[in-house]
Amino acid sequence: MSQNTHQVPRTSVEIRDSFIKFFESKGHLFVRSSPVVPQDDPTLMFINAGMNQFKACFLGDNPKAYKRVANSQKCIRVSGKHNDLDEVGRDTYHHTLFEMLGNWSFGDYYKEEAITWAWELLTQVWQLPVDRLFVTVYEDDDEAAQIWTRVSGLPQDRIMRFGAKSNFWEMGDTGPCGPCTEIHFDKGDLATQASTFADPEKGVNGTNDRYIEIWNNVFMQFERISTGELLPLKNKHVDTGMGFERVCAILQNVRSNYDTDVFTPLISKIAELSGVPYAQDMSGMPHRVIADHLRALSFAIADGALPSNEGRGYVLRRILRRASRYARLLGQKEAIIYKVVPVLAELMGDAFPEIRERASFVAEVIRSEEERFIRTLDAGLDRFDKIAAELQGTTVIAGDKVFLLYDTYGFPPDLTRLLAEEKGLSIDEPGFEKSMNEQKERARGAQKQVLSAGGSEGWTIYAEGSTEFLGYDLPSCEVKVLRFREDAGMLSIILDRTPFYAESGGQVGERGKLEGKGLEIEIVDTIKLNDIWFHRAKVTKGVANAETMGDVFVATINSEERAAVRKNHSATHLLQSALQKVMGSHVAQQGSRVASDILRFDFTALIAPTWEQLLDVENLVNAQIQACLPVRCDKMGIAEAQKSGAMALFGEKYGDVVRVIGMGSFSKELCGGLHVSNTGEIGSFRILTEASVSAGVRRIEATTAFGALAKAREESGIVAALRDRLRCKTEQVLERLEASSENTRKLEKELASLKSQVAQAKAGDLLVNPAEVKGVQVWTINTQVSPEEFSAILDGVQTKLSLGVAVLANTQSDAGAIAVVVHPELVKKGVKAGDLIKKLAEICGGRGGGRPDRAQAGTREPAKIADAVQASAELIASLL
Ligand code: ALA
Repeated sequence: MSQNTHQVPRTSVEIRDSFIKFFESKGHLFVRSSPVVPQDDPTLMFINAGMNQFKACFLGDNPKAYKRVANSQKCIRVSGKHNDLDEVGRDTYHHTLFEMLGNWSFGDYYKEEAITWAWELLTQVWQLPVDRLFVTVYEDDDEAAQIWTRVSGLPQDRIMRFGAKSNFWEMGDTGPCGPCTEIHFDKGDLATQASTFADPEKGVNGTNDRYIEIWNNVFMQFERISTGELLPLKNKHVDTGMGFERVCAILQNVRSNYDTDVFTPLISKIAELSGVPYAQDMSGMPHRVIADHLRALSFAIADGALPSNEGRGYVLRRILRRASRYARLLGQKEAIIYKVVPVLAELMGDAFPEIRERASFVAEVIRSEEERFIRTLDAGLDRFDKIAAELQGTTVIAGDKVFLLYDTYGFPPDLTRLLAEEKGLSIDEPGFEKSMNEQKERARGAQKQVLSAGGSEGWTIYAEGSTEFLGYDLPSCEVKVLRFREDAGMLSIILDRTPFYAESGGQVGERGKLEGKGLEIEIVDTIKLNDIWFHRAKVTKGVANAETMGDVFVATINSEERAAVRKNHSATHLLQSALQKVMGSHVAQQGSRVASDILRFDFTALIAPTWEQLLDVENLVNAQIQACLPVRCDKMGIAEAQKSGAMALFGEKYGDVVRVIGMGSFSKELCGGLHVSNTGEIGSFRILTEASVSAGVRRIEATTAFGALAKAREESGIVAALRDRLRCKTEQVLERLEASSENTRKLEKELASLKSQVAQAKAGDLLVNPAEVKGVQVWTINTQVSPEEFSAILDGVQTKLSLGVAVLANTQSDAGAIAVVVHPELVKKGVKAGDLIKKLAEICGGRGGGRPDRAQAGTREPAKIADAVQASAELIASLL
């Protein structure tokens, strides 16, 4: 490829394309960006580097036999080792979400090619001026330094050596790592600014935004293990990462990433929605923050994460609340961030189709989250201002105040820190942690109280210790009581060992019995706290006291219930896999509840499943049941389980050794619950309901085996009863029902019209014996009828009224109404029903209003209506 055949790419689309094409021309395979939500690693919050999806390839396991790969990876750096959140919007080049362009060699080419190609792409294809480029190498990497000298011809002082902090790259505390070489670009004005590249503060790897890192080439040759030791890898690899938005700024010749076409459409939309024009200085920070945060939120949500109060979901909530506060700074009191989603979808939809496909879902989730926060935002900001104003002799906001803002107004501590910093204050972070822990302690204490385990009070204690769970293998075993306590007729019992499964992972606690000499105890529920199993129980035979409870018991679970729960639990796993196959891999479990009669499964879904999809899911699950797949339970290390591709729940605490439940090749999940040994045992599976539980989360309730049969019987029972009542065949039931409700509607209409005719006729009878007030006829009419009838009477009065005013009172036992109808000629003279009724309502303690010719008021004090009627003549007189 010669320099002249290249057109230097300018738009972001061209730049991304040009990178991929360049490496394709060097034998690389394009692999799509993985979702930002890690698919098989519950320990990683978000994808934070292009290499994440290839971690196994470095460590020796290369299932797809990749040699050379290139892509553009969506990365989010807001937690853990790589966290850029606080810089966002303040500077011009840090983002919560950014694209990382990368090329990889897995045991194939190494330093020579990596460096040669990097230089070729930058200086020949993209034609970056050589006098603006600087490279860094790891302090003892002579090999890389020599290659750079030969390939680039850069003078020695521009091939700079740095220590591990900047030139030894590691994915996390453990994992693949190695020395790296970075390329930096000088964004300064060469004509007027003296070069300061060697200055530790202002130069390369300093804190200044003039010399900016654009590309990191890592030479992966070690694995860091948990002891901190470095083990050499079997092969040597290359892992590179280029900051896409930064390169766009350079090739588009703008100072800030926010001035590139990756951001300008978003920023324009924000300016348009808020009516506040964008400025590149600090006053434009709200636009920048919102544009940046919107990208991270949208991609994370499109890839299956949802804002919540824990783990990954809480990170999203924090990002959204930060953005929401900046929208408030733009004067926005209503949700607006979600309105930018369509622009983003249009902008990025070609490169990342998922953002276009899921745009409306993403917008919906953001809107509901924004609206929720906005409800407390103003009050929280007021409270913050008060707290800040009340500070005396300190510039630190106390931890309990930060906690108050968190707990009452939903302000994440980093939002409070940000608000504080803007006023030159800081927050007491350890103090906040302390308040937070105290609250957790309180919650735990409350939970313990529920478990009746509070201290040693009231317990009869035989021995200390925790409980060994034997229930995976045994339905029954001999046990000894460690301690028990009686309260409100219930026993809490802690055993040395137990076959009872305690509620966890969505599966309910087991029931059963304890049998000892002369004593029988029914276990009604089992819960656990750490490694202690609490059995809630009732004595059914004998007396429980310190003597009788100290004996040996036989503990036996309710086998029938366990059998049903096993079926439902295994069916829940099949359901999750089936949902993913039918609706897409973004479907992720949010929670579940597995009981003996029903199973409930909550999952993220972009849109509601259609009726056909639900049938497909039901069919797919039943097909796995029919296929009688063996169910395996393998115990293995957590790392191995993740590598095997087992599904796990993010944020769930797993031990070092986990159980992986596999059902044929259809499902594989980390799970501590009880399962059938063959899917055939489930018998059948039936979805009962499907509905939304919150924005983006849906719930399926289903049943299996006899539960499914019982449900079918219940429904056919209802159909049979209908058939009997309607005296028809099953297939005629619907038709008959429709005919019958049609008939009812017709009769109701006729009845209503008859009632109104009767009431109108009655009105004529009621308009008799008027009184005379200043020459005007005034009728007072008292009725005791239903509100509907009263209204019909008013209709009648209105049509039959001759020149005059009618005052109608309707009293019932606990409510009443008063109404005034005025002849149109009198309205013209200033007698207005609306005015009259307001005064009458006051007298009878009610409220009402209406038109000038007819108005009505209701009251809860019907006894006062008579007073109002009495006063009406005088009131009318005052108007004439
Ligand atoms: N994995 C390297 C980085 O993220 C390329 O910088």
